[in-house]
Amino acid sequence: MTRDWHAWHEEYADPASSLSRRLEEVRIQLAAVLERGTGPVRLLSLCSGDGRDTIPVVAGAERDVVVTLVELDEELAAAAVVGAASAGIAADVRTGDAGVATTWSDVLPVDVLMLCGVFGNVTDAAVKGTVAAARSMLAPGGSVIWTRGNRVPDDPTGHLDDPAEQVRRVFLAAGFEEVAFVRPADASYRVGVARLAEPSAEPIPDRLFTFVR
Ligand SMILES: C[S@@+](CC[C@H](N)C(=O)[O-])C[C@H]1O[C@@H](n2cnc3c(N)ncnc32)[C@H](O)[C@@H]1O
Repeated sequence: MTRDWHAWHEEYADPASSLSRRLEEVRIQLAAVLERGTGPVRLLSLCSGDGRDTIPVVAGAERDVVVTLVELDEELAAAAVVGAASAGIAADVRTGDAGVATTWSDVLPVDVLMLCGVFGNVTDAAVKGTVAAARSMLAPGGSVIWTRGNRVPDDPTGHLDDPAEQVRRVFLAAGFEEVAFVRPADASYRVGVARLAEPSAEPIPDRLFTFVR
């Protein structure tokens, strides 16, 4: 890894920060996804950090949620284990490379796939490949909750406009329906929710993405 992801998480300490506002929006969108259905839910979060966008929402949900979190950094994964235990939820926290399918392929299909803090760190080709793979990772009617920053330092995208707009286009081209897209006028984070009616039977590639920044 090239970035200090512990330092990145420190911005959460300021409740007024853009990152904290994004967190709140992700939680709102996850809660809305969970409220839309009935019955048990399988949730997979890739590059989950300490799981703070997922754990409290699942703890407050009316439905049973089977949670798998995948995070490369051992300390952040350990924080997720502690966070889940103190929230009273059972979570399968895996310390490993979320870009590699074998790290999580045994829990597929899932109803909710969280890709928060991923797309701004990978190439445009990897965004496309990950969205394409998501079509084979979801159960029918499953949702992806994703984020993308605009004006990310050393942004890996080749697109000149707001890169979140390209992510939206990629989901639509892959057959997803857009359920939500949040683009605050005064902040650079974007949060999207995309739903897939009919999953694909295409095989999932061995590797979806590698962080490039
Ligand atoms: C931008 S942060 C997002 C964290 C969390 N999803 C959030 O929104 O709070 C990216 C996270 O991905 C983790 N990460 C980087 N490369 C990874 C990989 N190949 N597999 C799993 N996690 C990775 C970092 O350690 C970091 O916690």
